Amino acid sequence: MKVLVATEKAFAPVAIKLIREVTDAAGYQLALLENYKDVSELLAAVADADAMIVRSDLVTSQVLDAAKKLRIVVRAGAGYDNLDLPACTAHKVVAMNTPGQNSNAVAELAFQMMLYQARGGFGGKSGTELRGKTMGLHAFGNVGKYMAEIAKGFGMNIYAFDPFVNEDAMIKSEVKACKSAEELYSKCQYVSLHIPANDKTKKSVGYDLLKTMPKNAVLVNTARKEVINEDGLLKIFEERPDFRYLSDVEPDCKPVFEEKYKGRFIFTAKKMGAQTEEANINAGVAAARQIVDYFKTGNEKFKVNK
Ligand code: 3PG
Repeated sequence: MKVLVATEKAFAPVAIKLIREVTDAAGYQLALLENYKDVSELLAAVADADAMIVRSDLVTSQVLDAAKKLRIVVRAGAGYDNLDLPACTAHKVVAMNTPGQNSNAVAELAFQMMLYQARGGFGGKSGTELRGKTMGLHAFGNVGKYMAEIAKGFGMNIYAFDPFVNEDAMIKSEVKACKSAEELYSKCQYVSLHIPANDKTKKSVGYDLLKTMPKNAVLVNTARKEVINEDGLLKIFEERPDFRYLSDVEPDCKPVFEEKYKGRFIFTAKKMGAQTEEANINAGVAAARQIVDYFKTGNEKFKVNK
């Protein structure tokens, strides 16, 4: 069996070492395609792979056509919007993710951006504190739960909206449940996004929600840039000089921000949320184990395609 790790954004070396221990123990061969620049490299590398581990790498029909032997692809991470699921199914390839494995890293990055912004980018001027402020979690999945834990430590008042999560789970985490996104945004100075990017959520966070946020509003996006309606975001920035946007990846409208709104945003150049050794180890090793388990026992617990 050949397992290919194809990552345009490489794992930490320690994670590769531990992934290799899993594949070695199973008697599988591990191949690495890291930091590749062009899809042609991926098409060549995947040709004889039985299994593949990816991150945000696009797994398209073209990739699957080139992967003649492929039986399973595991997205080492939570969001699988980069996998063409119908194409995986059509190619008889099982697609999986590794939910929860990199969630703490993402939550920590959200707080790092919030703290840096609250202290004015360490520029020497007086800033603000998080204690006593309202934190709104837009979705209460794995990242949302870590966010709540950290926010509690900072003494924030925490709210969440998630139609897929039972209110009891929120109450257990000392989080107040909101009945709608509108309620969440209108109550919270800080709103942190933890929704996936899909047909329902793309461009769903726009002007109507953002305009209701309290004074000195801060929108934190460690989810996906696609969930934001950027026209609405720019409109709110024009109207409200108190509004801030902190995003793990640059929005398409970054040039406008740079020209007009200096000091009111933070954008990471490359998605950094899951870029820690710990998250790389957790997600990478989980992916390798899921592959071995699938081949040896047929376990499809984390399958995301039909
Ligand atoms: C995820 O969905 O797990 C995160 O967005 C991390 O993505 P990455 O593996 O590309 O850093």
